[in-house]
Amino acid sequence: GRVLLAYSGGLDTSCILVWLIEQGYDVFAYMANVGQEEDYEAARVKALKIGAKGVFIEDLRKEYVDELIFPAVQANAIYENVYLLGTSLARPVIARRQIQIAIREGCQFVSHGCTGKGNDQVRFELAYYALKPDIKVISPWRIPEFYERFPGRQSLLEYAAKKNIPVVQTTKAPWSTDGNIYHISYEAGVLEDPNATPPKDMWQLTVNPEDAPDTPERITITFQKGIPVKVHNHNDNTIHTDSLELFIYLNTLARRNGIGRIDIVENRYIGIKSRGCYETPGGTILRAAHIDLEGLTLDREVRRLRDQFITPTWSNLLYNGQYFSPELQFLRPSLVASQESVNGEVKLKLYKGNVIIEGRKSDTSKLYDMEESSMDVQGGFSPVDSEGFIRIQSIRLKKWGINNSENL
Ligand code: ARG
Ligand code: SIN
Repeated sequence: GRVLLAYSGGLDTSCILVWLIEQGYDVFAYMANVGQEEDYEAARVKALKIGAKGVFIEDLRKEYVDELIFPAVQANAIYENVYLLGTSLARPVIARRQIQIAIREGCQFVSHGCTGKGNDQVRFELAYYALKPDIKVISPWRIPEFYERFPGRQSLLEYAAKKNIPVVQTTKAPWSTDGNIYHISYEAGVLEDPNATPPKDMWQLTVNPEDAPDTPERITITFQKGIPVKVHNHNDNTIHTDSLELFIYLNTLARRNGIGRIDIVENRYIGIKSRGCYETPGGTILRAAHIDLEGLTLDREVRRLRDQFITPTWSNLLYNGQYFSPELQFLRPSLVASQESVNGEVKLKLYKGNVIIEGRKSDTSKLYDMEESSMDVQGGFSPVDSEGFIRIQSIRLKKWGINNSENL
């Protein structure tokens, strides 16, 4: 049979590649470029050298930004109040291309290097099955013959030596990372003690906020229907309008201003608690700006319904690997509809780890009326009407008050 393996070039997936060949498969390697720092060409050479029948390297950054990251901004997506879902969001585009290539290359099998304890195995495999229900999945870290043979890193290194798998001699970081254009994650190893403060040099995508410049940077982000369409840096007049370019630029701005670090103990879908540290630089700026613009441009009840139903559901579906599902398909048009009026721009100050809102405006939204809201101007509606409003609203509360005199 033919297998398309999601390959990273690292020790684990290189051993998996060779092990699959040993089991009699023709193995093809697939690498998704979702914006992670990687020597893709070196990985191609390595995969071919250790026996891959073909290597496919795919630049998925643009579709990742347009189809996953920007909708996450529209949804104000967040998991357990803290995690911006950076690993979860990349999985659907990675899995989709893997299935497309598997079909094109006549592979009946797909494979990956996820552990049997995490979220990622669920995310990849649910996506595979939704997109190609008859696909066969090989998950080595859940196959006893595999994991019993490779109980630790040492056994992988010995296997690599025996099979002539080149191993880049780096001192392996004492934690595991997963990166893409939206974020990087740090988990496991020394971070497994939830009370262990991460070492200063762990963080890769942002400078330490204390070390960020003393001069703030002022930018304006323009949104159309909840999608960022322009970033303007007032300090040096840089402007970006292409989705991928503006997102990369926001990462640059956030990086040098120390924006986007978090540390959380989260609940994995399979029920295990896990401690993770994440950096989501550009995404943290966009989230703050988007939430702010909604204050000016979004109807109160649309916002309430979106916050109550779409934000948590969309976030959980992504976290739990159900992007390709009937319920997400059902929610998507409502998310888009909720953003119809979210047009305008937000002024922000970036300063030592903080995103500080300095103003916002919208040329199309008429929801905010300066006269009506003013404490200095009479008019808009009659203050006498507010009296009746309060009287009616109080009917029910007075009844409750009568029955609960001990409230006082
Ligand atoms: N805990 C995060 C999540 O579930 C990050 C997972 C990181 N994945 C990885 N293969 N290292 O989304
Ligand atoms: C893994 O277990 O492969 C990484 C962590 C996760 O998927 O939650």
